[in-house]
Formats: sequence, C-alpha cells, structure tokens
Amino acid sequence: MSIAFTEQSLQHCNTLGLPARTQVAVLDDEAAIPDLCGAPAGSPVFILGGGSNVLMQSQPRHRVLRVALRGIRLLQETADHWIIEAAAGESWHGFVTRCLEQGWPGLENLALIPGTVGAAPVQNIGAYGLELDQRLHSVVAWDLHAGRECALLPSDCGFAYRDSVFKRDGAGRWLIVRVRFALPKAWAPRLDYPDLRGHPGLQGDAPTPRQVYDAVCGIRRRKLPDPAVLGNAGSFFKNPVIDAARADALRQRFPDLRTYPQADGRVKLAAGWLIEQAGWKGRRLGPVGMHERQALVLVNHGGAQAADVQALAQAVRQGVRDRFDVDLEQEPVVLD
Ligand code: EPU
Repeated sequence: MSIAFTEQSLQHCNTLGLPARTQVAVLDDEAAIPDLCGAPAGSPVFILGGGSNVLMQSQPRHRVLRVALRGIRLLQETADHWIIEAAAGESWHGFVTRCLEQGWPGLENLALIPGTVGAAPVQNIGAYGLELDQRLHSVVAWDLHAGRECALLPSDCGFAYRDSVFKRDGAGRWLIVRVRFALPKAWAPRLDYPDLRGHPGLQGDAPTPRQVYDAVCGIRRRKLPDPAVLGNAGSFFKNPVIDAARADALRQRFPDLRTYPQADGRVKLAAGWLIEQAGWKGRRLGPVGMHERQALVLVNHGGAQAADVQALAQAVRQGVRDRFDVDLEQEPVVLD
C-alpha cells in the first residue's frame, strides 16, 4: 500500500491560518505506515495533527503527513482504572467529551484544547492544574527511522513542561498512532488552579466531572480566542522557569510578579503577565498582535505570513528581555 503526496495548500490545516504549500498526504490506515519508513533524506516528512501548535513557513521543504486515524475504545478495565485507547487523528476535545459521556472521567481539566489526540503527548498538553502525563498509560508509535512500531510507557517519553521525546527528536521521527489513557475509577476533582478554586459553578461539596468540564470550557471560552474566528496557536510562548534567587530579585523590583514554585525548587513565571507589563497586551504589529484578553496568545488579524508572526514574536521577546531580563521560548513548532 503506498502513500501518495500531492501539492496542496495548508492554510486551512493550521489554526494560525498562515498560507503554506507543500506536498501533502493523508494517513487514514495504519497499514500504509511501513511505506513511510526510510524516506529519502532529501524529502523529510513532517507529521501534522490538528495544526494548532505549528508555525508554518510559506514554502516548507518538508512534505506533510496529515494523520487522520480514527477510533476510540475501552481497551481494558482493571480494579482501579479504565484503560481507554484513542487513535491519533481523533479530535482531542471530542475525545475528552466522549470519555465524559461514557462515564470515564478524568480528562475534564483538559477540555477544549484544540488539536488531535496524537499531538497531545508531543507537547504534553496541560491546563487548569493537570498535565497529560498524569493520565497517560502508554503511547503506540512508529519509529520511522528504525522502521518499527513501539509501545512507550510514560517513563520512556521524557515528559517535561510542554515537552517530550517526540518534540525533542523532531517532527519526522515518531509517528504516534494510538494513545492509551489510565483513568482512575476513584475520580476526584482537580481544583488546585486559582481559576477553578474560585469558580462559582464549583462551590458545592462534591462537584461532578460534568461541572468541572463546564467550568473549564467556560473559562477557556471567556479568555482564549476561538481559532475558527481569530487565527491563533494558543500560548505562543512557554511560561519561563528561572532560579529562585533570580525570582526573588525580580519580586523586589516588581511586587506583583506572578510566580509558581516548581517541584525542583525553581520558579515558573507567568509569561502573559510579563508580556502585558511590557506593553504588548492587545497591541498589533502589522496583521498580527497579542490578544487583548490573554497576552500570551498571538493572533492573526487577517492576511498574516510566517514572517509577520516572527517579527512580532521577536519584538515581544525583546520587550520582555528589556524590562525583566527574562528570555521567552516559543511554544509552537516550526514547519520549515
Ligand atoms: N496574566 C496576565 N496578563 C495576561 C495573561 C495572564 O496578567 O494577559 C496572568 C493571569 O492573571 C494569571 C497568570 O498570568 O495570574 C496566568 O494566566 P493564565 O491562568 O491565563 O494561564 P497562563 O499561564 O497564561 C497556561 C497555559 C495555557 C493554559 C492555562 C491554564 C502555558 C504556556 N500556557 O497559561 O495553555 O490553558 O495555563 O492552565 O503553559 C496553551 O498551551 O496553548 C495554553 C493555552
């Protein structure tokens, strides 16, 4: 079975809505995967999910494989967990909703994150006090360099904040085909995140999974622009993590600094706050700008190209460096 690549536009396959054209193929059958192994070095393949965390150059040298594998099933039920398997091409939010409806809660803090199931482990998606690695059972992926299928346990995936071995090895080595989740039967709400702790819909004694799901969806809809309406790739920068001593020194100068202590003793800063303080919230540069309700989200007001995004990202990074001496790291991966 062979996979045919043809030249296509990818403008509707990236949530920033940037124009891009390259050779594209759709993968909707796992049987076609061996055909992709050992692709010639001159034409590397970039694996694309929902395109919600990608900055596309207008004429990438990579060919693009769009993953459209489908299917969700209860793989196994143990005494303590439901093990659920979802194919990589399923919509992430659709999957979270389906699990809730089936009576398999545990992912509701991650509701409404754009993108696909297969992309979720790549950047170890996280929101509202939960990261994907805390619910992961295993990842079934093809190592396209070695030409074989592997099952990776969480300890094999090198997870860190918005990072994993799948991201570090580049977007052409690992083709994630199925992701398995271990959802504890003893469900308890995760309400550590400030926005949830104070949420009016969650003040009763025992909030239900549906109430947590609705609260998370409500918060995201209020704060974050819908990519179908205003092009964006979610947070455009990671929240920077710095040494405690540097954070203390910064707090002396900026008493309102938002800080989150990390398990390793270091301190995470809120990049959105830094960007807002640097004067970039709601500000535009050409056809792009930083969002008016969440300064961490870079938005395409219409007609932007990759170069416009890069110019704004550079200006914002410089503004934050000048004011706080902190470097911001871009979150979306680049398709070049
Ligand atoms: N803040 C500002 N100004 C802003 C934005 C934020 O002062 O313009 C302050 C907020 O008031 C708050 C703090 O910064 O005190 C944190 O803001 P928020 O709760 O909105 O979360 P975040 O740190 O900006 C992260 C994730 C989001 C995720 C939320 C909720 C990263 C890079 N981003 O944002 O993930 O939804 O927490 O958990 O970690 C994404 O990755 O695409 C994404 C949207």
